[in-house]
Amino acid sequence: MEDVFKKIVSHCKEYGFVFPSSDIYDGLGAVYDYGQNGVELKNNIKQYWWQSMVLLHENIVGIDAAIFMHPTTWKASGHVDAFNDPLIDNRDSKKRYRADVLIEDQLAKYDEKIQKEIDKAAKRFGDSFDEAQFRATNARVLENQQKRDALHERFSKALNDNNLEELRQIILDEEIVCPISGTRNWTEVRQFNLMFKTEVGSTAEGASTIYLRPETAQGIFVNYLNVQKTGRMKLPFGIAQIGKAFRNEIVARQFIFRMREFEQMEMQFFVKPGTELEWFSKWKQTRMAWHQALGFGAENYRFHDHDKLAHYANAATDIEFHMPFGFKEVEGIHSRTNFDLSQHAKYSGKKIEYFDPETNESYTPFVIETSIGVDRMFLSVMCHAYTEEQLPNGESRVVLRLPAALAPVKLAVFPLTKKDGLPEKAQEIIKDLRFHFNCKYEEKDQIGKRYRRMDAIGCPYCVTVDQQTLEDNTVTLRDRDTMEQRRVAIADLRSIIEDKVSITSLLRRIE
Ligand code: GAP
Repeated sequence: MEDVFKKIVSHCKEYGFVFPSSDIYDGLGAVYDYGQNGVELKNNIKQYWWQSMVLLHENIVGIDAAIFMHPTTWKASGHVDAFNDPLIDNRDSKKRYRADVLIEDQLAKYDEKIQKEIDKAAKRFGDSFDEAQFRATNARVLENQQKRDALHERFSKALNDNNLEELRQIILDEEIVCPISGTRNWTEVRQFNLMFKTEVGSTAEGASTIYLRPETAQGIFVNYLNVQKTGRMKLPFGIAQIGKAFRNEIVARQFIFRMREFEQMEMQFFVKPGTELEWFSKWKQTRMAWHQALGFGAENYRFHDHDKLAHYANAATDIEFHMPFGFKEVEGIHSRTNFDLSQHAKYSGKKIEYFDPETNESYTPFVIETSIGVDRMFLSVMCHAYTEEQLPNGESRVVLRLPAALAPVKLAVFPLTKKDGLPEKAQEIIKDLRFHFNCKYEEKDQIGKRYRRMDAIGCPYCVTVDQQTLEDNTVTLRDRDTMEQRRVAIADLRSIIEDKVSITSLLRRIE
């Protein structure tokens, strides 16, 4: 699976989806740029999310808050004091790690050992293999499971108690070595705040420290009153936002999975206190339906309910997607109580409440948050779409089986040759259709090669203009997935393609 992932990363670069940031200077750690195809795919993902929130829900509106916020925002939200990662250094390699990630990797090693035993036995016993019975009786599986459970319990407790010494002791007891030096020469564990700081103001004396926002959510909370009043919003209602967030991640790995500059799509749903768990459960289902409408298979998603809840949350779950490197969090859904609004009320001195006309009382609403990373979503789409295929004629192709509605280019138009008025006819088709969806003109190379290039960027339809087109205004329409070709009238192209490639086609599936 590692090989597949490497191929996906190089495919992203080769076909203009994702480049390392400042590539000519050899890149900048955990920062990436989206190329000509990447930006289109990313915009389509954002549009799918935005429309599913704002278009399909009468009681959800959007905002676009600034990245810079008053510094007290982050004191109130708890980020200044508690948005930390526990860090540990290896004295020999001088490399820095997240202590919790080292331990999580160790947990994954136990899982791998267990899975290996299961796979071996499944192969040996074939159809008669009973996995549940094997898990319950096999000595090696039981031993590893017991070690894993004990480690998990100790680890969760250390995290809950914020016990840095215990985290270090776990690393020593588990004999975890530095992947670079191979030694166990570890320093103490220290807390490290993930927020980036900068200064506003022109003189050193007059300048004040501000932060690049580590989540977009706070921009919504501080605007709760503005939106509720000006939009005359009645509970329950939501505020949605898409925007950049910044975190000084220490362990940056897995390409765009963990970045220092990334984008979030967050929605805060304000509800009457006491109804929040019902809404939490509704939003879990709604968000899972949004993911599954993409058609990647229900088996590739799962909920991961949190054992360790943040002090302000009374329920939390992640939606995980099956990436080539395991099930990983793509979205978080959190029941955040009234913590954020109450904190901002306390720190700003403003009354942040809702007057309920039905009960004639004022209260601080509770909040359900749905928070998804655009880049992680992009990665999951890419990972699922990337396919290497052996064709019946002995050739092979790489095809991105992107949902048509997300594909960067919807239709490629090729003149069969560069003469006899075929290029002009092809351009004419594009001129008409480009108002409706993203089209691309290609005349270089053999048709077969042009098809392969379009397969590699996930373009769902290709049209070829030939001599017959000049006679009867028909073209060959080729389908990316089936590679089937059929003759259709130019006049019918729009109606055949438009519905399949529009975001509406996805939205209808979740309505
Ligand atoms: N407001 C809640 C919040 O920010 P989070 O679980 O820290 O919660 C939400 O982040 C989502 O943002 C994650 O599920 C993930 O998709 C994305 N995300 C978080 N950190 C990221 C990073 N360093 N790089 C890319 N995406 C990230």
